[in-house]
Amino acid sequence: MNSLQMTKTSNSAPPPGVHPTEYRTVLGRFATGVTVMTTVCPQGRRAGVTVSSFNTLSLDPPLVLWSLALKAPSLSVFRDAGRFAVNILAEDQAELALQFARGAEDKFVGVATTEGLGGVPLIQGAVAHIECEMERRDDGGDHELYIGRTVRTHSSDRHPLIFAKGRFGQFTTFS
Ligand SMILES: Cc1cc2nc3c(=O)[nH]c(=O)nc-3n(C[C@H](O)[C@H](O)[C@H](O)COP(=O)(O)O)c2cc1C
Repeated sequence: MNSLQMTKTSNSAPPPGVHPTEYRTVLGRFATGVTVMTTVCPQGRRAGVTVSSFNTLSLDPPLVLWSLALKAPSLSVFRDAGRFAVNILAEDQAELALQFARGAEDKFVGVATTEGLGGVPLIQGAVAHIECEMERRDDGGDHELYIGRTVRTHSSDRHPLIFAKGRFGQFTTFS
């Protein structure tokens, strides 16, 4: 990336070549896994949000990143929490993905969890858990960017849930 490309994000209108609806469609062509980010604030309030913007950032040090919409009601909980957990959903957890994508007073009703570090809920049946300490928050346009430092992981051999073109699916290999 050169210095010209490293311009700071602004709130200006999108360039003429980027139509908002088409932009969303284009981004949806990129297949991702599906995670639920969970946390608990110092007052004990739990939050969980379905997120596909998760990605690895660094192996050494072990860093991950994701972004949360500024308009998300859970934003204040994640801002105040010093840690979060990445729950990578399994192929049979699409209903959970929808449950954590809907605004609700308590999204954890009926969800089996265990307590992770700092009391952060870990969703049972997930393919993997990545427990993180909040390393940094940054501006991300209409989202807030979170960078976490991984402090503990757990994974299983379950198959991950996939999200692409606005739909959930399964992971299959060519052979
Ligand atoms: C598959 C999928 C992926 C999503 N990815 C993100 C994401 O990366 N960032 C985000 O802010 N919202 C994302 N959302 C939307 C949030 O899950 C949704 O707005 C949720 O209600 C926010 O939680 P809150 O209402 O408790 O704040 C996604 C939704 C779905 C179904």
